[in-house]
Amino acid sequence: MEPVEAMTPLDRTATPSSHEGLGRLIGVGVGPGAPDLLTLRAARLIEGARVLAYPTLAGAPSFARSIAAAHIRDGVEEIAIDVPMTPAREPAQRAYDDGAARIAGQLAQGRDVVCLCEGDPMFYGSFMYLQARLAPRFAVEVVPGVTSVAAASALARLPLVAREGRIAVLPATLPDEALAEGLLRHETVAMLKLGRHFPRVRALIDRLGLTDRATFVARATLPQEVVLPLARAPLEAPYFSLLLIAKDTDPWL
Ligand SMILES: C[S@@+](CC[C@H](N)C(=O)[O-])C[C@H]1O[C@@H](n2cnc3c(N)ncnc32)[C@H](O)[C@@H]1O
Repeated sequence: MEPVEAMTPLDRTATPSSHEGLGRLIGVGVGPGAPDLLTLRAARLIEGARVLAYPTLAGAPSFARSIAAAHIRDGVEEIAIDVPMTPAREPAQRAYDDGAARIAGQLAQGRDVVCLCEGDPMFYGSFMYLQARLAPRFAVEVVPGVTSVAAASALARLPLVAREGRIAVLPATLPDEALAEGLLRHETVAMLKLGRHFPRVRALIDRLGLTDRATFVARATLPQEVVLPLARAPLEAPYFSLLLIAKDTDPWL
């Protein structure tokens, strides 16, 4: 008989009997882009997979799949989930509903589904939307991946936080007031999802006198990667770009 604590909803290691005979949903982080930043565990799971799922953004080829390509066996069943990039949430929600239903069809037949996710699955990762839909019925496992923030910090040789330092991760999609508050309250800020918000956040950072503290990183760890002081960054930011703003470098001495 299992101890009572083992069956609490927070214990993800317990396998309820309702999951017997069903496949597992396995979210696998594939890292920020360089194929050799895939973990050994991720590579092993991808090589062993009979069914793979991954997002494609607005019809473009899947970035997550391209990172993992060398480990994908011939003949594997692939479930591409095309996620539209719209400010409204409903079109993406419908895409995840549809993707989750296709994955559920495989899991119900006892097949594990390895779901590829760029970076780390639990860090703004597409996987979390599939997990939310499927975890009530199926066992879920997650393999962490190297995040874009870790990759950018390493490329820029910029320590993220030291000693009592605080870090905030802010999507550039937030309004100026929220971004300014985050920038004022933390020693370090990683700002993601720049895209069309780049000119606005750049002006804000300038108004706060932080331009000389900001580093622009695009397509980190890919052959086309760019690492520049914000003052020398291009006018347009690609989707895979971020800023690291480090206000306080004293603790590093
Ligand atoms: C939906 S989030 C995915 C984050 C991802 N799961 C992670 O662990 O980093 C997408 C944002 O992450 C950032 N990003 C992801 N990969 C990146 C890369 N290779 N270089 C720079 N920024 C990246 C960009 O800010 C992009 O807009």
